[in-house]
Amino acid sequence: MKLSAQLAPKNERGLLLANPVMTASGTFGYGTEDNHPFDIQRLGAVVCKGTTLEPWNGNPQPRIIETAGGMLNSIGLQNIGVAALIKEKAPIWAKWQVPVVVNIAGETIDDYAKLARLLDRVAGVSALEVNISCPNIKAGGAEFGASAESAAKVTVAVRKATSLPVMVKLSPDVSDIAGIAIAVAQAGADAISLINTLKGMVIDIDKRKPLLGNVTGGLSGPAIKPVALAMVYRVAGAVNLPIVGCGGISNAADAIEFIMAGASAVQVGTAGLVNPGAPIDVLEGIEKFMLDEGIEDIASLVGVAQD
Ligand SMILES: Cc1cc2nc3c(=O)[nH]c(=O)nc-3n(C[C@H](O)[C@H](O)[C@H](O)COP(=O)(O)O)c2cc1C
Repeated sequence: MKLSAQLAPKNERGLLLANPVMTASGTFGYGTEDNHPFDIQRLGAVVCKGTTLEPWNGNPQPRIIETAGGMLNSIGLQNIGVAALIKEKAPIWAKWQVPVVVNIAGETIDDYAKLARLLDRVAGVSALEVNISCPNIKAGGAEFGASAESAAKVTVAVRKATSLPVMVKLSPDVSDIAGIAIAVAQAGADAISLINTLKGMVIDIDKRKPLLGNVTGGLSGPAIKPVALAMVYRVAGAVNLPIVGCGGISNAADAIEFIMAGASAVQVGTAGLVNPGAPIDVLEGIEKFMLDEGIEDIASLVGVAQD
C-alpha cells in the first residue's frame, strides 16, 4: 500500500511525507514534548507552533472556550521566537525521521522574509508553512491573507528568502479564496494549506461582556469541517499545486473527504486536543479504508470528488 505524498514536487529539496497525516500548527507544540501517546515518527509530518522573530507572550486570558461542536482560541501566537527554536528545537528535529514544518508569522512582509532567511539552512527544518491567516494578532496575520495582492507579496518575499519548500496557509475569512490561492500559486508557493480558524466570539451574559480577553478568537473543530471542505474543494479545483486540508478533521472518514476533495495531505488540529491519539487514529483508519476498498496508492483518491 502506498501512502506517501510529495508536497513540493517543483522544489529541489522536495517535501516527501511517508503518509498524508500531519499535525496542525498550534495544537501539537513543537512535537518535542513527551506527552504524546504514540510514536510521532509515524506521522507524515509535524507542523510546529506559529513562530515569530521575537518571543511573544500572546493575548490576555481567558484565551480558550468550548463552543458547540468546536472551540474558540485567542492564544495569539505565543511562542519562543525563532532564535530559541533554532537553538533548542531544531537539533532535536534533525535526529528525527518525520519532517518538521515550521509555521511562521510576522507583522510585516520583512518579518516573514527574515524568518525564512534565518530558517533556510537549519538542519531539522524541512519546510515552511507561512501563516497569513492568524485571526488573533492585530497587525499582520490575517490581514496579509485577506487580499490576493498582499498574500502574493508575502509569498514572493518568502520564496526569495529561502530554498525550503514553501506552503502558504490561507484564511477562510475571505470572499474569494480561489483568487487568493491562484495569486499565491503564481507567486511561487510549493503547496497551499487551508483553512486556519474562522473569526468568532462568545459573550458572557452575566458580565455582559465578551468572554475572551481578546474579544474575538478563532473557531476550530468539527463545527468548521463543512466550511473547510468546501474551501479545499474550491481551491483544489482552481490551482495546480498540492493542497493540504485542515479544519475539523477528527477521524479517518473526515480525512478521506478532504483527500477526495483534492487534498494530498491533511492536518489534524483540535481533535488532537480532545483525543491525543487522533492523528494516529486517522492514519490507521485511512489504511483500513484503503485495504477494505482495495486502493493501492492514496494518490488515486486525491480529488476524485472533483467534477
Ligand atoms: C489552540 C490553537 C492554536 C493555534 N495556533 C496556530 C498557529 O500558531 N499558527 C497557525 O497557522 N494556525 C494555528 N491554529 C490553527 C490550526 O492550525 C488549524 O488551522 C485550525 O485549528 C483548524 O483545524 P482544526 O479544526 O483541526 O483544529 C491554532 C489552532 C488552535 C485550536
